[in-house]
Amino acid sequence: MNILGIESSCDDTSISIVKDGKEILSNVTFSQIKKHEKYFGVVPEIASREHLKIIDFVFNEAIKSSGLKPSELDAIAVTSYPGLIGSLIIGVNFAKGLSICLNKPLISVNHLLAHVYSAFINNNIKFPILALIISGGHTAIIKMENFFNFEIIGKTIDDATGEAFDKISKYFELGYPGGPIIEKLSKIGNENAYSFPIPLNNLKKYGLNFSFSGIKTAVMYHRKKFRNRYINTDKYKIFLNPKNEVESILNQKDYNFYKNIIKKQEYLKNIKKLDENENLFDIAASFQKAIADSLYIKLKFALQINHFIKTIIIAGGVSANNKIRNTILNLSKIGYDVFFPPLELCMDNGAMVAGIAYHYYQQKIYSDLNLNPYSRISSLKRGSMI
Ligand code: KG4
Ligand code: ZN
Repeated sequence: MNILGIESSCDDTSISIVKDGKEILSNVTFSQIKKHEKYFGVVPEIASREHLKIIDFVFNEAIKSSGLKPSELDAIAVTSYPGLIGSLIIGVNFAKGLSICLNKPLISVNHLLAHVYSAFINNNIKFPILALIISGGHTAIIKMENFFNFEIIGKTIDDATGEAFDKISKYFELGYPGGPIIEKLSKIGNENAYSFPIPLNNLKKYGLNFSFSGIKTAVMYHRKKFRNRYINTDKYKIFLNPKNEVESILNQKDYNFYKNIIKKQEYLKNIKKLDENENLFDIAASFQKAIADSLYIKLKFALQINHFIKTIIIAGGVSANNKIRNTILNLSKIGYDVFFPPLELCMDNGAMVAGIAYHYYQQKIYSDLNLNPYSRISSLKRGSMI
């Protein structure tokens, strides 16, 4: 079965064709990062307009590189919730158009479950599972008996994990998306330099819900406290010294990345007079550690409550983060099977949509042309504790 999957819930327009839920025949993604980076976050109105401009092209490329004719598709799947409403509308209407003109069934997909599926493409995973979804828009622990029966047992009550990375990056004027930038800075920082609070770690009181706005505020206050001094970057200049062997492990791109950051810190030192004892690398690493520890603690607690579940999936854009992967991999040392998607499927993509839709197709779970996109699903609403 060849299923075409459309993903347009945020700032990636992605269309993929997947055979039998496993074999990716094509996966074409057009990222809008360049359009949003100057705002340090996604601007919904710009996102929907960009989807509209490019979706035709992405579709044609996906068909071309799959080697199939449109008539050889068996179904059209699309992310219809949750996400940015204007962006979802573009994907859903495009999918409806294809479904009518090719006379193929239309399949609606939940974006969070599609992220879970991204780990199934390359792995043989047995249910039941606990899935931790950590992305720019969502943070949730989902208990799944199969692709049809699931329950959200924990969620964020404020910022999503990726959003916290993006906001810290924005605060330090580092760029967008913040996750990969903070991860890179952390690589040469000391993660034990500062101890930022681990969010909602009182499990009895807060249960399985997450909160990241507290740690974000802690990082910001910490910075403000030192506002009148400067940053000493000398310690990091070894990374830029061609004679130093550390340099040889950096490729040109990373070299330029660190060089720019250090240049910026030098600039801030002169202009804003920041703290000499404080540095961005250590802050980034300590922040990243607090986030990783918080995710680990909650997941471990969720596993204790659901002691019959031995399999865990971590998916969504933030699951590309190595520190978070390694922290959660500690669960494999105590008897759990831990799965991640391949790096190229962590961010939003059409393959995960087409992949999970194969299982709906087999059960004939189709939608009709009344399918409406929704920005939220009620059980994911902010603020309600379990
Ligand atoms: O899943 P995704 O592509 O989109 C949503 O559904 O939201 O996730 C995007 C998020 C962004 O917030 C980005 O900063 C974060 O994933 N991200 C990372 C990393 N790569 C992407 N966060 C931490 N470390 C990374 N390496
Ligand atoms: Zn996503």
